[in-house]
Amino acid sequence: MNIRANIPMPTAVVPPAIREGLSTARPMLIDGKWVAAQSGKTFEVFDPATGETIAHVAEGDKADVDLAVKAARRAFEAGPWAQMTPSERGRIIHCIGDLILDNIDELATIEALDNGKPKAVAKAADVTLSADMFHYMSGWATKLEGKHIPISALTAPGAEFVSMTRMEPIGVVGQIIPWNFPLLMAAWKLAPALTTGCTVVLKVAEETPLSALRLGELILEAGVPAGVVNIIPGFGETAGAALAEHPNVDKVAFTGSTEVGRLIVHAASRDLKKVSLELGGKSPNIVLGDADPELAIAGATAAIFFNHGQCCNAGSRLFVQRNLFDKVVEGVAAEADKIKLGPGLTEDTEMGPQVSRVQYDRVTGYLASGTEEGARAICGGEGLGGSGYFVAPTVLVDTKPEMKVVREEIFGPVLVASRFDEVDDALVAEANNTIYDLAAGVWSGDSARALRIANRLRAGTVWINCYHVFDAALPFGGYKQSGWGREMGQAVLSNYLETKAITTRIG
Ligand code: NAI
Ligand code: MG
Repeated sequence: MNIRANIPMPTAVVPPAIREGLSTARPMLIDGKWVAAQSGKTFEVFDPATGETIAHVAEGDKADVDLAVKAARRAFEAGPWAQMTPSERGRIIHCIGDLILDNIDELATIEALDNGKPKAVAKAADVTLSADMFHYMSGWATKLEGKHIPISALTAPGAEFVSMTRMEPIGVVGQIIPWNFPLLMAAWKLAPALTTGCTVVLKVAEETPLSALRLGELILEAGVPAGVVNIIPGFGETAGAALAEHPNVDKVAFTGSTEVGRLIVHAASRDLKKVSLELGGKSPNIVLGDADPELAIAGATAAIFFNHGQCCNAGSRLFVQRNLFDKVVEGVAAEADKIKLGPGLTEDTEMGPQVSRVQYDRVTGYLASGTEEGARAICGGEGLGGSGYFVAPTVLVDTKPEMKVVREEIFGPVLVASRFDEVDDALVAEANNTIYDLAAGVWSGDSARALRIANRLRAGTVWINCYHVFDAALPFGGYKQSGWGREMGQAVLSNYLETKAITTRIG
């Protein structure tokens, strides 16, 4: 076991242009203008690698949300956005994707600084996929087709009708996003809402507001009219809650904790707003005895440790068949020990800090609880202490199904591993034994066998001999308490559309 505690972290150099840009308080975007909060308040944003303040950002609350919703309503009902052709809308959305790519280095730098993730990862994953989301969605703007539907009209014998459906934007959408992929979550939410012709008030996470605010500038530059996208930084209990319960919001789309997902549903229930939710997970990753062990080791390592374990779909429960258990689990632990921790802006960093002090305390709290309940860390097992929020990548063995570390979402670099004897109903039942069910992995040399298991897993996504393969074209979302509805792909469009049936009597 590699004890890493108290290893001093290298300090990263913030590029002067970014530092300069952050030297004054960042305003919020309402009705096409960059404005301070009505209250005049700002809040601090921290570098999770050092705990130092890196920016002050306008603190939106109820009053600002109200102005933003009014602007979004005006933009939805009248003005250029409401009159725009699908083709024009699509071109503007495509242009947002282009501008993201034009600014890829700056956006990746902001993300690394604000969230703590390695800049190279932010570039290759977060920013690239954000651009692709706008590019992919832009094509749907011209393809939101209804149907011509032959009807029987039993109550009007002899009469003749033409019936059709029309897909219409749902209206003003309130979107609330978390901090684990700040830019990408903004893209996942904004791109389909814009494609369908909705207008948006986006509440970004208080931990990581910076990249979405920069995206707001690019959105205006692309030609999105004033009021169509409003971006409010602020806290969940104030700005988030005000948005979720606002009577003039037609739909709320949320990504975050299952606990807050419940609050959103409650807040939205008074006006019966439409709600979509992308929530937590405790995803099983199953290695069958016939899997290629090297592939499974690399895959299981990435499944849990990518993004410091801060993924709703993290493969956090590893099940390995008895013949491969020691090899795979020790292999994952050896890989974990090699992962280079450091600030996101330091060149050779492979894993950054947890996003905040709160998350650091939460994850290390789980590590303590695991030890108390009898689990054993074969690598990592502790927070690194100091002023940054680093946690050593950890693999826990000797776990039991009822332990908190096995049941609850940790949202940090902590894997629980257990062995199984047979590929049978009991294995599938244990994999499905969770309140969540966002994703799952299966590793096997026999793809038909893996597919049979995939079919039985109650998960929104199953990866076979791979993990974390996301694509703008693929729907993503959860069964059970992992959420309602799907993000991405054609499937997400229904989150933002109403279906209208129009019937004309023609004879
Ligand atoms: P959270 O669910 O509190 O925060 C997500 C977003 O919801 C943020 O923008 C926050 O400001 C907002 N929010 C919080 N309370 C709200 C309320 N009452 N009304 C409206 N909006 C509200 O997540 P948090 O506290 O950052 O993390 C806690 C745990 O949640 C994590 O440890 C992890 O288990 C889970 N989580 C899951 C995510 C996912 O992608 N599924 C992302 C982030 C956290
Ligand atoms: Mg919270």
